[in-house]
Amino acid sequence: MSIEQRDQLVYVDNGAGDEPLSTREMNPLFSSVLEARLARRQVLKGSAGAAALGFFGLGLAGCNSDSDNDDAGDAPAADLLGFSAVAVSTADEIVVPEGYSYQVIIPWGTPILGSFPSFSVNNTGNDQAEQVGSHHDGMHFYPINDSSEDGLLVLNHEYVEPRLMHASAQGVSLSSGATPPLVGGLRPADEVRKEMNAHGVSVVRIVKGANNQWSVQPDSMNRRITALTPMEIHGPVRGSDFVKTLYSPNGTMTRGTLNNCGNGYTPWGTYMAAEENWAGYFTNKGDNPREHSRYGVPSGTGRWAWELADNGADEYIRFDASIKAADATGDYRNEPVCFGWMVEIDPFDPSSNPKKRTSMGRFGHEGVVFAPAEEGKPVVCYSGDDSRFEYIYKFVTAANYNAATANGSMLDEGILYVAKFNDDGTGEWMPLVYGENGLIEANGFTSQADVLVNTRLAADFMGATPMDRPEWGAVDPANGDVYFTLTNNTRRNDSNLNEANPRAANNHGHIIRWKEDGEQAATTFTWDIFLFAGDAGESGVENNKGSDPNGNDLTAENILSSPDGLWIDPDSRVWIQMDSGWDDPFGNCAMLVADPTTGDLKRFLVGPIDQEITGITMTPDQKTLFINVQHPGEGTSGDQFAGGSYSSTWPDNTPSTRPPRSATVVVWKNDGGVVGS
Ligand code: FEO
Ligand code: CA
Ligand code: CA
Ligand code: CA
Repeated sequence: MSIEQRDQLVYVDNGAGDEPLSTREMNPLFSSVLEARLARRQVLKGSAGAAALGFFGLGLAGCNSDSDNDDAGDAPAADLLGFSAVAVSTADEIVVPEGYSYQVIIPWGTPILGSFPSFSVNNTGNDQAEQVGSHHDGMHFYPINDSSEDGLLVLNHEYVEPRLMHASAQGVSLSSGATPPLVGGLRPADEVRKEMNAHGVSVVRIVKGANNQWSVQPDSMNRRITALTPMEIHGPVRGSDFVKTLYSPNGTMTRGTLNNCGNGYTPWGTYMAAEENWAGYFTNKGDNPREHSRYGVPSGTGRWAWELADNGADEYIRFDASIKAADATGDYRNEPVCFGWMVEIDPFDPSSNPKKRTSMGRFGHEGVVFAPAEEGKPVVCYSGDDSRFEYIYKFVTAANYNAATANGSMLDEGILYVAKFNDDGTGEWMPLVYGENGLIEANGFTSQADVLVNTRLAADFMGATPMDRPEWGAVDPANGDVYFTLTNNTRRNDSNLNEANPRAANNHGHIIRWKEDGEQAATTFTWDIFLFAGDAGESGVENNKGSDPNGNDLTAENILSSPDGLWIDPDSRVWIQMDSGWDDPFGNCAMLVADPTTGDLKRFLVGPIDQEITGITMTPDQKTLFINVQHPGEGTSGDQFAGGSYSSTWPDNTPSTRPPRSATVVVWKNDGGVVGS
């Protein structure tokens, strides 16, 4: 399906696919169309030549060339990407560079807990709670005893494809986003339960055996966190009227986490799961308050019609946020406000409740990335809001970091900022603090809780820069530079261009980069565009062709579209993952690697058909890489599905008993070296 087709689908059908709900119509910005055109030319010239690289490239080279601060120079930066690029592929398989091997582990439905139910389309909702969830996304490897061969793999499960999950769907023409037909206008409750339990996070102990083969270990720390797991609400919104519900009349608890896309790893070692496209899971059939409407809570049926569970159980019907009682403690009008947060999980304490950290704002969190923590300084992290024309945020803790005592409570107090990218290459972090800069009662903000619940509105008010769908961020450990993928924005047009988002009909996206002015917690920065994704050929913002970090045209070795997942490894390799709906000429979604010093960019891995590559983590020795393949076969048409076939049969290749399944892929270098080297 082309991007345009997918856009159309999403525009008319909130439930389709995993693309964000876009309720926002952009007004022309202050600059005129003429000014915008001039700006585009300037960026094209700058990004393709010395102007953009001059600032960053030289600075990076100076820093990276001897990052350990000894007297001797380190190995030449040109060696950072020591593999041969793989070609574009349309095969239904994983492709890795020559000299590398891979293994597929923990596909959706792998038993990890309790009675260890084996995978079947007939699994119940409770079976699913003892199995790995679906639609693998952000991920982190937690070594046990510092081992690179034994640890907890913690991963998000962003959403589900209901047609693959239920016997009732078999033989029915269903699209990837459709649920099986309603029964008497309702959904069988156990189907709802199964879908909820396929969401959330898995914690699974894995160990490496002979021949680099990893396997799941039964372990007391194995855990499923789902859309039903009790969670605590922390930070300024805790206990406020915004989150009081029938379930938690004092506004301190909620159930579940939804649409966990990217992740984060805190300086104290916990796991952060982001809540991204959660709004569509709800319905509000009455007056939609701004804390619903600005996020796209629909007035029609929710994404999976969970509110229509036929047993009417409270844990399902809460997805109807319509007013039904005399006050908020009698219904679920506030349930959508319990979502849109960053959720902190301690994978080593299976009895702990996950904690929603409301200080970090409420929006479509793609993920969160922490800058390396410095003793005696605030902790700094960044999070993007992945919808068209939404923003990039930064959170700075009030307390200073102390490795001996730091914990998640640091995230309950601090300042949330939103980014303004000025057209001259400078930028500002604007604080979203109640009582400051007009965030006051006269302008509709009554408390810090109000500002945080309505983060997008506060950011609108401050004049933040609307971006081309901010996805993952990454911080270069060598120098603190921050990178963010801006995956695409087909609705960007001449009337609302800005220098940081300079392409109209931005089909293929770009990656922006900034350096904070001085301390990581600084409130100003300098930015450039790291690369433009796109096809090979003469690069430029006018024609949607790409350019590499040196401003050179892309080639067969590195064309890419729709950068999404992003990670910078300890050696400063920039890993870039695709989530593209385009076919020709990009082939299946792939993962590339860039060297920020030399500007080299090479394709490292290609996935199977109709999937995205997302989630990335390594063992401490960097000799084992884990990535996720999400939604293989998503492009299977309704008729094809009804006939029992799929566009991809990855990874099992036995479509009669196992549909295509999201799974984790382990990659290693045959000579035992560092992956990517
Ligand atoms: Fe879930 Fe924005 O990707
Ligand atoms: Ca996606
Ligand atoms: Ca993503
Ligand atoms: Ca995406």
